Amino acid sequence: MQPIAPGFPAGFVWGAATAAYQVEGALDEDGRGVSIWDTFTATPGAIARGDTAAVACDHYHRHPEDIALLADLGLSAYRFSVAWPRIQPDGVGGPNQKGLDHYRRVVDACLGRGVTPYVTLYHWDLPQALEDVGGWLNRDTAHRFADYAAQVADALGDVVDHWVTVNEPKVASHAGYAAGIHAPGIRDPRGGVAAAHHLLLAHGLAVPVLRERMSADGELGIALDLTPVSPASQDPADVAAARRFDGNFNRMFLEPVLRGRYPTDMIEWFGGAPWLQDGDLEVISAPIDFLGINYYRGHVIGAGDGSVLEGSGTPMDLDAVHVIPPDAELTEVGWTVTPTGLHDLLLQLRDEYPHVPLMVTENGAAYPDVVAADGTVDDPKRVAYLDSHVRQMHRAIADGVDLRGYFVWTLLDNFEWAEGYKARFGIVHVDVETQRRTPKTSAAWLGAVARSNRLPDGGSLR
Ligand code: FCB
Repeated sequence: MQPIAPGFPAGFVWGAATAAYQVEGALDEDGRGVSIWDTFTATPGAIARGDTAAVACDHYHRHPEDIALLADLGLSAYRFSVAWPRIQPDGVGGPNQKGLDHYRRVVDACLGRGVTPYVTLYHWDLPQALEDVGGWLNRDTAHRFADYAAQVADALGDVVDHWVTVNEPKVASHAGYAAGIHAPGIRDPRGGVAAAHHLLLAHGLAVPVLRERMSADGELGIALDLTPVSPASQDPADVAAARRFDGNFNRMFLEPVLRGRYPTDMIEWFGGAPWLQDGDLEVISAPIDFLGINYYRGHVIGAGDGSVLEGSGTPMDLDAVHVIPPDAELTEVGWTVTPTGLHDLLLQLRDEYPHVPLMVTENGAAYPDVVAADGTVDDPKRVAYLDSHVRQMHRAIADGVDLRGYFVWTLLDNFEWAEGYKARFGIVHVDVETQRRTPKTSAAWLGAVARSNRLPDGGSLR
């Protein structure tokens, strides 16, 4: 058997991702309006320890040094998001020039260091004014999003060639509108499905808007959180539960975006699609240049006892449980470490949707990292996590998957939504008190992989 060359394809993109609300701070600066996350974090009990994003990583002010750090590490792409309330403080009208100027500076800082900006338009910080009229339960929000996308692309389209419309419509809708564990904290299972559709509609409406404003060789996509699902056993009840879980998590998003249809089994399960209007699926399935995959873990699913899905975040009672094997390795937030799942997922996507190039737009893990007496932060578990996922990605490419790039989640330890600052996902440690940045061992590790564009020596497939 021929040994597989350890290299990644020429031009493979190695980057790091962040999201505005998780890193920026400066919530009252330069005319920014209120977002649903400001309101949600102010709700007693919503966020662990009552943490807020008021300062976060102070990235609003420190982005030049953070981007320089990313470049010095050896990464050549930065995926960040634009905060909608900085551009349209009230969700309509505008734009607020100071907000646009800020992101122009961020883009310039990237370009000045040879870093390619990947701009995400929606990473969950909806203007509160739009929530006040229904948020993502209101179909009109999708049209508001297209207006906002036009404003950002008018301002940055000459220098930004890589766009992500919406980040994880599943989490934004299910966690925000069905389970109520994310902003805006609504518990309305049926509403969660409608919100998901409106987020997909927003994506579809933004596609032509971006196309008109970006260069001919620019690329746009959407970032979906996807997971490979397997049944806990061949018992028909487990198989059916796993199929529904897969439908809810993956197919309800992949199918409309990439095939212009919703899975009929899920629509039946949900009891219809009252939110669907003529023409929506044509809009949602507008061609994209890459599919962004946010991959954290796989799922083994068994039939439940009729109660809601364990772990919640689901829009409907799926009657399923996430089975965690007793010997499973878990990250700090309790997510299983399943690197082969990434390989499985990539092959599954290649087989189902062969026409769309793939990018891993997020992948990473939380561990309780500490600064040692000598000032260093050693994170061997994160190195092992990244190493195993990078190897599975490489294996998938060798198996013929058209995978174009990899963004680690995340550059900086940051405000991890409902978990607050406790869950550290960064390759760079951030001291919440002093804002001091300390690259962890994983930062140097990933930088070396990126610079060489090949698998590191040693390590193993697991
Ligand atoms: C993803 C989100 C990202 C971060 C990671 C850990 O679902 O896109 O903002 O919270 O999980």
